[in-house]
Amino acid sequence: MAALSAFASSGADERVEYRDCPKCDKRIRVDLAAGKAYVNLSRLEGADKEVVAARAARLLDAARIPPASDPKIRPLMGWSSWNTFGVGISEDVILETARAMATNGLKAAGYTYVNIDDGFFWGHSEDGILRFNPKRFPNGMKPVVDGIHALGLKAGIYSDAGADTCGSVWGGGPDGPDNGGVGGGLYGHDAADCKLHFVDLGFDFIKVDYCGGFVLKLDERKRYTEIANAIKATGRTDVRLNICRWGFPGTWAADIAESWRTTGDIRANWGSIRQIIGENLYLSAYSKPGHYNDMDMLEVGQLVGQLKSVFGKNGDTGITPDEETTHFGMWCMLSSPLLIGCDVRTIPASTKALITNPYLLAMNQNDLGLQGYVVAKDGAAYILVKDAVEKFGRSRYVALYNGSDQAHDFTVRAADLDLGGRIDAFDLVEMADVGCFKDQVSVNVAPHASKFYRFDAERRVQRKVYEAECAYLADYQELDERFEKKFGTAAPAPMESASGGMVVVKLGNSATNYLEWRDVKIDNGGEYVLVIDYSSPDDRAFDLAVDGGVVRRVEVKGTEGRLSKAEVSVKLSAGVHTIRLANASARMPDIDRLTLTP
Ligand code: GLA
Repeated sequence: MAALSAFASSGADERVEYRDCPKCDKRIRVDLAAGKAYVNLSRLEGADKEVVAARAARLLDAARIPPASDPKIRPLMGWSSWNTFGVGISEDVILETARAMATNGLKAAGYTYVNIDDGFFWGHSEDGILRFNPKRFPNGMKPVVDGIHALGLKAGIYSDAGADTCGSVWGGGPDGPDNGGVGGGLYGHDAADCKLHFVDLGFDFIKVDYCGGFVLKLDERKRYTEIANAIKATGRTDVRLNICRWGFPGTWAADIAESWRTTGDIRANWGSIRQIIGENLYLSAYSKPGHYNDMDMLEVGQLVGQLKSVFGKNGDTGITPDEETTHFGMWCMLSSPLLIGCDVRTIPASTKALITNPYLLAMNQNDLGLQGYVVAKDGAAYILVKDAVEKFGRSRYVALYNGSDQAHDFTVRAADLDLGGRIDAFDLVEMADVGCFKDQVSVNVAPHASKFYRFDAERRVQRKVYEAECAYLADYQELDERFEKKFGTAAPAPMESASGGMVVVKLGNSATNYLEWRDVKIDNGGEYVLVIDYSSPDDRAFDLAVDGGVVRRVEVKGTEGRLSKAEVSVKLSAGVHTIRLANASARMPDIDRLTLTP
């Protein structure tokens, strides 16, 4: 009885109110402006009223994002000048933007970096001093950085790994190439430019592009490492570096940078957003606390009919509200940096509400460093998942992403999500509990739209299926695919009959070109059967290692374009393991997935 009355008083949180609303289908609705959660009596369906009220109070509490355990641990949040203004920036534009962010709720929501992209350059002087465009920044950069800092915000700058900037090579707006960027890059000026930016002026972030580096055919890894070292040499340890090489550069990027661009430039249209999501679906293994795949600056607020950008001729046609939700939600789910690209002085109210939604932000702004990964695919409709509160816990974020042009009926299976028992589903965008389910639930999602949930389950279930396309490929990089075909290292590739429609190809031939499933969590230790689905053009082999010790050499026959299975029995203790497939001296078969059964 004592316990019951204690519970009753906690359930009687005065922020929680009961409503009878037979017309609405939500069980709990959170209204953050009112600081209230409303429980719908008509949708309790035999559930314990007080248990639901206690959940409502917890959902209200979850709208407060706890402070980061380390200032560099979460994806960067802020604004960048490029998407709206191109090279047409100025001291006024930057400072007005900073003032708007400080007062319109964006800073309060966590958008603190004000990043100046291309367009400020005026080459280097003969004695090697970086100069600023005298028309756009007549007072130099000092008052700009100081003005941003005075508002409690952080300041970001931009450069190129080579000699000339992208704006000087490609242009950046209606006026054609920006000649000020000729000779404006870091090449030959690392130490002096880093001292200027981070010591004298006090910038807190730098994005380093690659147009000039590309022209000079520089080695990416070597060049970006030199730049990272030059930043370190200034003594600043809080500066964040972004590598902008328009494709996943390689796993080395995480050793030297906080984020790295994974694609070509975004544009404000659906095709561009879908393309970028597609290119980031299988990169979760490379995301970790403090180090993230960068999907490019946001095109939120660039709505059809309300578009404000200099890139109208370059494909900015605007996006619909559904596409905007998909865009922002997927950037959150995939733990991309969140850099607003619209004019925040005139940001649409609906956009501001979307990008300050604390439930969506919590999916991006937490210390786990996890990127969502694909667990189910049906045509261009994908289900993605990642842990919400702790690794291997009972709370998971789930995205239903409809990349297709038709409405899609998703079947969400608890087994695919490694969840069991009763599952409470909170819709992050609607800020509403949509009820609970067991085993599976169907959800219809409009074309180009997405649903984002937090699922709180009774039980976490041990994972059975590990897809190869979601594994860590140590030598994975996309530079060869796009440009010079330099490496020939392992990569995910489509194969229609494969599970998830994907396999990993080009594995082996080198000790470092391996595939690894990290975070293989075993609840009950014992003998396990590991089934590896593969496809192989001829007779091949690989070594299967658990936690660094070689367990077995697996030899397979050619499969003539079909899939086949290899089985290995292994003792696995309770705990978290790493399973590696490797072949240092020959090509491996293409790998589809690993299935683990006790
Ligand atoms: C490249 C980058 C863009 C932007 C422009 C500036 O295209 O990928 O994000 O910085 O350069 O010129």
